[in-house]
Amino acid sequence: MTQTPLVEQSRHDDILVLTIQNPPVNAFSPGVPEGLKAGLSAAAADEGIAAVVIIGGGRTFVAGADIKTFGLPREQAPDLRGTVQQLDAFPKPTVAALHGTALGGGLELALACAYRVAVPGARLGLPEVKLGVLPGAGGTGRLPRVVGVQKALDMMLSGTPIPATEARELGLVDELIEGDLLEGAVAFARRVAGQRPIPRVSERSVQGATPELFAAAREAIQKSHRGQLSPALIVDLVELAATRPFEEGWQAEAQKFMEARESPQSRGLRHIFFAERESAKIPGLGKDTPLLNIRAVGVIGAGTMGGGIAMNFLNAGLPVTIVETSQEALDRGLSVLRRNYESSAKKGRLTLDEVERRMALLTPTLEMTDLGGADLIIEAVFEDMAVKKALFTRLDGLARDSAILATNTSTLDVNEIAAVTSRPEQVIGLHFFSPANVMKLLEIVRAEKTSDTVLATCMALARRIGKVGVVVGVCDGFVGNRMVHRYGEEARRLVEEGASPEAVDAAMNALGLPMGPFQMTDMAGLDIGYAIRVHRAQQRGEPEPDGWLDRIVKTGRKGQKTGGGIYDYDDTRRPRPNADMQALIEAYRAEKGVTPRTVSADEITRRLTGTLINEGARILDEGIAQRAGDIDVIYVYGYGFPAYRGGPMHSAGEQGLQRVVEDLKQYGHTPAPLLERLAREGKTFADFDRERARG
Ligand code: COA
Repeated sequence: MTQTPLVEQSRHDDILVLTIQNPPVNAFSPGVPEGLKAGLSAAAADEGIAAVVIIGGGRTFVAGADIKTFGLPREQAPDLRGTVQQLDAFPKPTVAALHGTALGGGLELALACAYRVAVPGARLGLPEVKLGVLPGAGGTGRLPRVVGVQKALDMMLSGTPIPATEARELGLVDELIEGDLLEGAVAFARRVAGQRPIPRVSERSVQGATPELFAAAREAIQKSHRGQLSPALIVDLVELAATRPFEEGWQAEAQKFMEARESPQSRGLRHIFFAERESAKIPGLGKDTPLLNIRAVGVIGAGTMGGGIAMNFLNAGLPVTIVETSQEALDRGLSVLRRNYESSAKKGRLTLDEVERRMALLTPTLEMTDLGGADLIIEAVFEDMAVKKALFTRLDGLARDSAILATNTSTLDVNEIAAVTSRPEQVIGLHFFSPANVMKLLEIVRAEKTSDTVLATCMALARRIGKVGVVVGVCDGFVGNRMVHRYGEEARRLVEEGASPEAVDAAMNALGLPMGPFQMTDMAGLDIGYAIRVHRAQQRGEPEPDGWLDRIVKTGRKGQKTGGGIYDYDDTRRPRPNADMQALIEAYRAEKGVTPRTVSADEITRRLTGTLINEGARILDEGIAQRAGDIDVIYVYGYGFPAYRGGPMHSAGEQGLQRVVEDLKQYGHTPAPLLERLAREGKTFADFDRERARG
């Protein structure tokens, strides 16, 4: 029989098994449809074959369309729809045998088979929405025909896969196979081989459709997927599936899929998908780099940050010893931590048993020497170099020789901290983002002497605790905060020129950020930024900062924690303008002789993203970030930059770098040399990443 390298054919008496061999995740790449079609044609023509089993080789069934082919013209894209059509009309029973993850095109392939069997640990889903697209090979028509409209919408709009056990209850899986999947699937195929008519999902009717349900779904996505294109297309298509013949939905789906695939939103989400995976790779660090075994963690400081950091490890089942300087602070920290867990339990995210299990892994202490058994110690104490140096000197004396000593500093020089120890190669920065148990980003600060083993261990650990770890170099603010500092400066300038803080925040909200710069400042605490500005001014020998925001801090308003800052807040924490603060800003402008002008939302977003891009380019040039993609990942996971815009550096490419350069010049900034060069050469930051990867 004809074989293609990606699909193996093997005969088990009267059953033909087609095994997809396209590691690592059996994506539907070029060669897969050809192999499947050839196998199906052979099986149709061979009277000795009674049924066909389709299975994935290696660790999984098909995990979806090959995302790398999304940029190809339609004619060159792998023909998933054609394969699905061939399966749907196939004259003999077909059985999809699922293990690992049957996602996207993989599940659509399975839905076009007559039967589906799965191992209990398999997971099934249509995650296309996460890539800004929609199921494009019959998924929007077939899934509601099997699981009903509500469940189909839930699965497609969340993109979250369901376990095979649930799929079995829903009828999405016909049988769970406990033992060997292939053996079980072949036995199942033999049992159904003679059954006629062959069941076809496309011939079923849709259950559970009501106009109210679609109206509710449309309303819900306004909140859950604000500003996004593909969720609305998914709802339209499921409605079509529920109200019109299958064929009509099938045709519409093809067209909508292309519309979504070609959208800037899908380009942005695909960029982040690959950038996230790329960020896990560190040039020069082989896969065989030895890792340290982290079995116990120490955290110094039980404040908001320390408590949040500790929770990450407790959640992953690692014991944590947490140290404070006073019993009162320790008790307060512990009760906050417990309250956090209990509120998760109330929301049904954790059982009370699980809360107790996690709390039992926590050892509170006032004795630093209790950290002697920890394999990793993270300090989250006051942001002061002298304090940190004293602490690291002490840690060096009491920690086990192999222990990693980490600082959660967000601004200080990790090299300087490492230098006070006798083991600078064991010192690293682990910069968590607040709230540390929620935000997915972890900046992993590689100091001059940090060893490869320590770095690789921390990358692996990030994954273990569910974080996206991105390696950054040492500089003031590392990547994220260094950029946000420039962004904050520009936001304050915009207000000085005439924009209201509400207008600045609203423009960034409209761009898709959950919080604008001033909402963020009020949440973080105005005194924090003020202290940094004072510190910088002192370092540079400049006078004390006295901008309009500094004057607000001096009135005693420090943000949400004091009930108000730039804005006032009600019980629901919704910001409202404060008349006194507006007057303060107006007085400031008058004092500086500024005649306020109208600033458009477009100018606000261009200037603010422009400053992010410009500082990002400097960071990249200095090698503080390895790739532009890393910066995007940092901004999406640490600062709420909308993933569907692909992060600031990707968004620069969408606008055109030349335009970013022109904007910067127009508003009085000097474009970074790297940005200017790329713009001149008509390139993007993705081109730069490729150049750097090639060396
Ligand atoms: N197309 C192309 N490449 C894919 C892919 C796809 N659909 N899914 C995964 N890959 C690649 C990844 O880029 C990665 O490549 P790398 O090793 O060169 O970095 C590799 O496969 C492994 O993926 P990774 O995510 O690191 O492995 P995992 O075991 O943590 O997760 C999945 C596996 C399948 C759950 C995850 O990759 C995933 O969610 N993929 C996307 C599925 C999807 O959205 N399908 C619908 C497409 S429309």
